Amino acid sequence: MQKFATDNIANIHKSVLLDESITGLSPVEDGVFVDATMGLGGHTKSLFEACNCKSRIIGMDVDESAIEIARERLSGHKEHIEFVNKNFINIDKSLEELGIKEVDGIIADLGMSSFQLDHSGKGFSFNKQEPLDMRMDPSLQFTAYDLINEMDINELIHIFKTYGEERFAKNISRAIVKNRATKPIQTSSELAALISNSIPRKFHPKRRHPATKSFQALRIAINNELDNLKIFVEKSVKLLKPGGRLVIISFHSLEDRIVKRLFRKMASPCICPHDLPVCSCGKIPELKIINKSPITPGENEIEDNPRARSSKMRIGEKI
Ligand SMILES: C[S@@+](CC[C@H](N)C(=O)[O-])C[C@H]1O[C@@H](n2cnc3c(N)ncnc32)[C@H](O)[C@@H]1O
Repeated sequence: MQKFATDNIANIHKSVLLDESITGLSPVEDGVFVDATMGLGGHTKSLFEACNCKSRIIGMDVDESAIEIARERLSGHKEHIEFVNKNFINIDKSLEELGIKEVDGIIADLGMSSFQLDHSGKGFSFNKQEPLDMRMDPSLQFTAYDLINEMDINELIHIFKTYGEERFAKNISRAIVKNRATKPIQTSSELAALISNSIPRKFHPKRRHPATKSFQALRIAINNELDNLKIFVEKSVKLLKPGGRLVIISFHSLEDRIVKRLFRKMASPCICPHDLPVCSCGKIPELKIINKSPITPGENEIEDNPRARSSKMRIGEKI
């Protein structure tokens, strides 16, 4: 892992919707909070400041390198922080192991950090010649290399179409299958060029690389990100104290849809069919939705950090 001066870290990854998310958590002194995607610790650091450094924070990340950097950056808070190098789907077990039954707030800033994009060496970036890995958790079985070189064409089309909402999913998948018949596709730059050449030039987006959506789709598939998100949201709400908040920042329309639907389901009082005269499910709402529409970054933030452009934040409060 590359070493960075801790005062440089804020420039390597700019935390998205920082003020809005920390305010959204409703921080209290002497509370217990979870940053489920600690990354380089930007949100954790601000949360400590908002609690006058008196709360306890559990910082989770599936990527060990991120934990190492955050550990150094947050060394001034070491009495109040626990680092947990696990997937956030294990939030319940991880808290149980620490003897914590309920918490005051949970934040998740989904996806990957700019550090992972630029410095992980795992092939997340189409601008780099790196091996196709894309696993945030190195213990996962399949890499991007396996998917790209072994997956059936229909499965490839499904991934690019569903997770990437890529209009040229078929062209891209056909080109992959044709190229890998001669020689395996080995690097991120090789794959990016192939994807780029499969999309007619007049459809190349102006502000981003033509392979952006396909790379995002592969990452989502390899890391099982959508299923993990569902499990995480359901477990998190159960772990909140009444009045505790869950804040989720997403960067993909499918992720935002999952959060929106789960929040609505948990906020709804009754799930009986509409034509049933009397409620038979007995369901009571467990969540209050704080913002009906997602919170998005302002122009200034987008200008300062273009990566923030697609972010959407939703906040729920345990009833
Ligand atoms: C956008 S970054 C978080 C940046 C952080 N909020 C900051 O301000 O520095 C997302 C982080 O979530 C981690 N991550 C993604 N999926 C995860 C999961 N299922 N469980 C735990 N961590 C995950 C990634 O490894 C990455 O470090």
